[in-house]
Amino acid sequence: MKVLVIGATGYIGAAVAERLAGDGHEVVALVRDPAGSGLTGDVRRGDLREPESLIGAVTPDVDAVIHAASPTGDERVDVAAVRALISTGKPLVYTSGVWVLGRTGEPATEEAPVDPLPLVGYRPAVERIVLDGGGFVIRPGIVHGYGRGIPALLAAQAAEYGLGRYVHAGGPPPVWPTVHVADLADLYPLVLERARPGDLFHAVAEEGVPVSTIAEAAARAAGTPCARAVPWPVEQAAEVLGRPFADALALSQRVSGARARRELGWTPSRPGIVEDLAAGATEDALSEIGAGGTP
Ligand SMILES: NC(=O)c1ccc[n+]([C@@H]2O[C@H](COP(=O)([O-])OP(=O)(O)OC[C@H]3O[C@@H](n4cnc5c(N)ncnc54)[C@H](OP(=O)(O)O)[C@@H]3O)[C@@H](O)[C@H]2O)c1
Repeated sequence: MKVLVIGATGYIGAAVAERLAGDGHEVVALVRDPAGSGLTGDVRRGDLREPESLIGAVTPDVDAVIHAASPTGDERVDVAAVRALISTGKPLVYTSGVWVLGRTGEPATEEAPVDPLPLVGYRPAVERIVLDGGGFVIRPGIVHGYGRGIPALLAAQAAEYGLGRYVHAGGPPPVWPTVHVADLADLYPLVLERARPGDLFHAVAEEGVPVSTIAEAAARAAGTPCARAVPWPVEQAAEVLGRPFADALALSQRVSGARARRELGWTPSRPGIVEDLAAGATEDALSEIGAGGTP
């Protein structure tokens, strides 16, 4: 298949492009700045804010489109972008996120009603247009792997403050659903090959990991003298991170990824988030002492 990947320079998009290429698919990248993207091969210019640029990039030889770009957050713009992509008639996989579900106690399945935080208030409308148009939606949990993403932010915070912190809005410490970026990337070709038009999948390997444990692992990964984590009141975190993002980090969610396993044969196999952060710490420690991987 020839697959257009929108957001191929991003954390998720780059992993998806690599996975597709590894499977023998032809990858076409859509980026805002081809010359500055550092990508080679078939790289096309486009912008979510310019629907005609998206339609222009979906040439007849493109078999499918994967949208892994960060949305603008303006519902009107993001809806227009997916409408344009649906109008091409090519299968479309849209990358959403579990924050559309809001707080969940029991592991939420794809049947659970949405209750989005303000940060992602635009997303249900975008998802609906994709699904009604016969496209596919993937909702990743908190993505980790290769020292990037939100866990890397926790490690950076720990390095700055000398101990781990997790945003807390009161009550029991939150739990987060998580997925390794390489496992997430595995899901995209499975969706294109095996899902039915209008299908929605949660990409979650671990249903609910205590954020206090993740923050402790991040502190160890950052090499802080004190490898423990303390709550960071959401009001204080909001002053640093902005209120919408702080509220999102304080969100407690358990989310089920069973449907993708059951219906598509998805088998996440990479390390869980705590193990992954610990492995990063080991690599850092080795490179610091110049061991180059040798004991
Ligand atoms: N990371 C997570 O933990 C996580 C979890 C759940 C859901 N998600 C969702 O997954 C999607 C991708 O996340 P990510 O972590 O991979 O983000 P990322 O690393 O920040 O990458 C974002 C990508 O979007 C592209 N982009 C941004 N604005 C664009 C525009 N106006 N037009 C076209 N391309 C644009 C960027 O390309 P340029 O090179 O042009 O900047 C970049 O390739 C987002 O919707 C995010 O909300 C992420």
